[in-house]
Amino acid sequence: MARRVYIFDTTLRDGEQVPGCQLNTDEKIQVAKALEELGVDVIEAGFPISSPGDFKSVVEISKAVKEPTICALTRAKEIDIDAAVQALQFAKRKRIHTGIGSSDIHIQHKLRTTREKVIEQGVAAVKYARKFVDDVEFFCEDAGRADVVFLAQMVEAVIAAGATVVNIPDTTGFLLPWQYGERIKYLVEHVKNIDKAILSCHNHNDLGLATANAISGLVNGAAQVECTINGIGERAGNTSLEEVVMAIKAHSSMGLETKINSKKLVPISRLVEGLMHMPVQANKAIVGRNAFAHSSGIHQDGVIKNRENYEIINPEDVGADASSIVLTARSGRAALAHRLEQLGFRLGKEELDATYKRFLEMADQRKQVEDADLLELMKDNATVKE
Ligand code: KIV
Ligand code: ZN
Repeated sequence: MARRVYIFDTTLRDGEQVPGCQLNTDEKIQVAKALEELGVDVIEAGFPISSPGDFKSVVEISKAVKEPTICALTRAKEIDIDAAVQALQFAKRKRIHTGIGSSDIHIQHKLRTTREKVIEQGVAAVKYARKFVDDVEFFCEDAGRADVVFLAQMVEAVIAAGATVVNIPDTTGFLLPWQYGERIKYLVEHVKNIDKAILSCHNHNDLGLATANAISGLVNGAAQVECTINGIGERAGNTSLEEVVMAIKAHSSMGLETKINSKKLVPISRLVEGLMHMPVQANKAIVGRNAFAHSSGIHQDGVIKNRENYEIINPEDVGADASSIVLTARSGRAALAHRLEQLGFRLGKEELDATYKRFLEMADQRKQVEDADLLELMKDNATVKE
């Protein structure tokens, strides 16, 4: 039986930190409802102490969304935890996500303290949060660059204090996939009380490896993955939800599964793109506008014969439009004949050769040849129109 992976969406917290992507409360509720329909397990709704607007959003999302757990971020400080407790008061299922730096770089140059003191502060924060909620996640910030032996001590201490989930963030997106996987494996093998909590992957995309790192963490024993729609987030972004979900689905040999309704992936991607004014690159995996578009002659010929020649995912499975054949100067006769047939023109070999020649002249002038252009091309052609 496949092992369940919990999807923790942080579009409304880590994603919303992106300059220019800020949403108002109504827009956040719209995204939260779409995330609920998508089937995510946890929605990180905000960082309540950070601003009255974020506080209000966590309150309103808690009222509007009932199925997923609603999570609020805090620093390892009682004042933050108090704000999170207040903001989560209406949530049916609630989680506090607290934590502190774990790498020596953060401990010395950001927190200006010692390893002993950060463990002390982390443990105190978890114990304090557990007075109010049963579900407490602890983040070991910059775990990607932390001394792994110290990291294991920290994880063990916060689990003993009552953490139910421990997040191992590669905050700077520094690690390579096998390094992140080894880190998770080390924790699984060396933390004595690891069976009392689950490990979570939180990967940033500074080297373009966030999804690969998250998958590596999951395969090596993590049970939760933190991700955002369209991979938005600080700097180069976070693990993209749609990528990690579809990688798990496409590779059943990993023995993992999620409860995401993949048919909702493209619709929610478009919703977030529009509300956040953050255009998705055309070649973005799964949700980019070219993700199922074929433009070279060889590929087009292959796809026309059988979609699976060049597609590993059925566009319908992610809620995308059917695969498209884009007619350009790189297209071959097969693609042209196919599109003309769809428009009602069935051409014999000689006629197709002649039309193809004229098509290439047109395609060299226009970047893309649309149906209207083809109809213009066929205007004076003595062809069989069905
Ligand atoms: O990247 C990170 O370390 C974070 C934590 C606050 C979880 O976003
Ligand atoms: Zn982050």
